[in-house]
Amino acid sequence: MARLLVRDLAQVATPAGLGAPLRGAALREVTLLEDAYVLCADGAVEAVGRMESLPALGGDVEELDGSGLCALPGLVDCHTHPAWGGDRVAEFALRAAGAGYEELHAAGGGILSTVAATRALGEAELAARVAEHARWMLAHGTTTWEGKSGYGLDRETELASLRAVRAAGGSPTWLGAHAVPPEYADADAYLDFALAEVLPDAALLADAADVFLERGAFDAARARRYLEACRDAGLALRLHGDQFTESGAVPLAIELGARSVDHLEATGPEGIAELAGSEVAAVLLPASALFLDRPMPPARALADAGAAIALATDFNPGSAFTTSLPLVASLACTQLQLAPEEALAAMTVNAAHVLGCATDRGRIASGYRADLVLLDAPDWRYLAYHLAGDVVAAVVRAGSVAFRR
Ligand code: NIG
Ligand code: FE
Repeated sequence: MARLLVRDLAQVATPAGLGAPLRGAALREVTLLEDAYVLCADGAVEAVGRMESLPALGGDVEELDGSGLCALPGLVDCHTHPAWGGDRVAEFALRAAGAGYEELHAAGGGILSTVAATRALGEAELAARVAEHARWMLAHGTTTWEGKSGYGLDRETELASLRAVRAAGGSPTWLGAHAVPPEYADADAYLDFALAEVLPDAALLADAADVFLERGAFDAARARRYLEACRDAGLALRLHGDQFTESGAVPLAIELGARSVDHLEATGPEGIAELAGSEVAAVLLPASALFLDRPMPPARALADAGAAIALATDFNPGSAFTTSLPLVASLACTQLQLAPEEALAAMTVNAAHVLGCATDRGRIASGYRADLVLLDAPDWRYLAYHLAGDVVAAVVRAGSVAFRR
């Protein structure tokens, strides 16, 4: 395999250091090189430096002209729901006319309407939809991503969702506790089925498990039952928590050693302090708060208290129909009071930490996987600055050009 030299870049910007997760002041430390190159070999970064110190390269080297471009680490989307059929455009219009998201969910719309459409797809069509969503992510600079099931809630569709995510290059998370499907009388009856009939196979296909801990979904006792069983089956744990109400997700996550609690729009001072003092990452999803016109999560307070924050899209048809991490970076700076440097760390190194792959993802450094986003911009901070702009000129994944605008 030929080496790839990305040369004459206006800037190369990457979170500094080698540790993960980054917290506090370290979240703001970016290493910046101007007039720089990145040399990739065998899918990994071989060297990065200033053009003036580029050594003479022998052998077969493919060159990519980086003039006028800035290189950032490939973005890491650590929270997406890509496995679904149908859409929720009619519900979107109803919400625009004043209907509430939780109200639609309680009336059997919302998540359950997507469950019906997803079950109707069949495995091949579902896989095609997930692959299409993965292409959308790549076009926005995402080179590593997590993808949840949770719109099947039957054995066949849940397992097909996990296979589709893996086949499309994502890290599958079994969101077996997303909602109680209509064929079960209550959450316990559904969990009896899911833990006995789906978990044994889901544990072989997935990297992690997730639960929607919220009024109208799963309460803390049901979430504990689900998560303990998933942990015992070897899965890493994630929680959707404090989206609308503080319902015990943070203490449960800490007690069970979960990787993250995601959403946190309703988290108060106590939850902020508990998360900051723990190993559990706080995953912030401002696109979802925006899309639902809900309060933003307390990102500034979490970062200042020392929490390990990450940012993700929450891509899904109901509460966050976007695959754009650059848009999330803009929201982080305009709505969450985060600095561009903090936003970058939160969607690279720290997001990779949430997925358990920070040893070789989320930085541009020798030995890391050669994943680069090339921005059509004179300064890397255009990632956040150019609101919904076409900033991604090209994406290199594992040392090969995977996308060009
Ligand atoms: O993370 N909150 C629960 N699950 C998704 C939304 C799912 C849907 O509306 O279809 C979320 O926002
Ligand atoms: Fe989500």
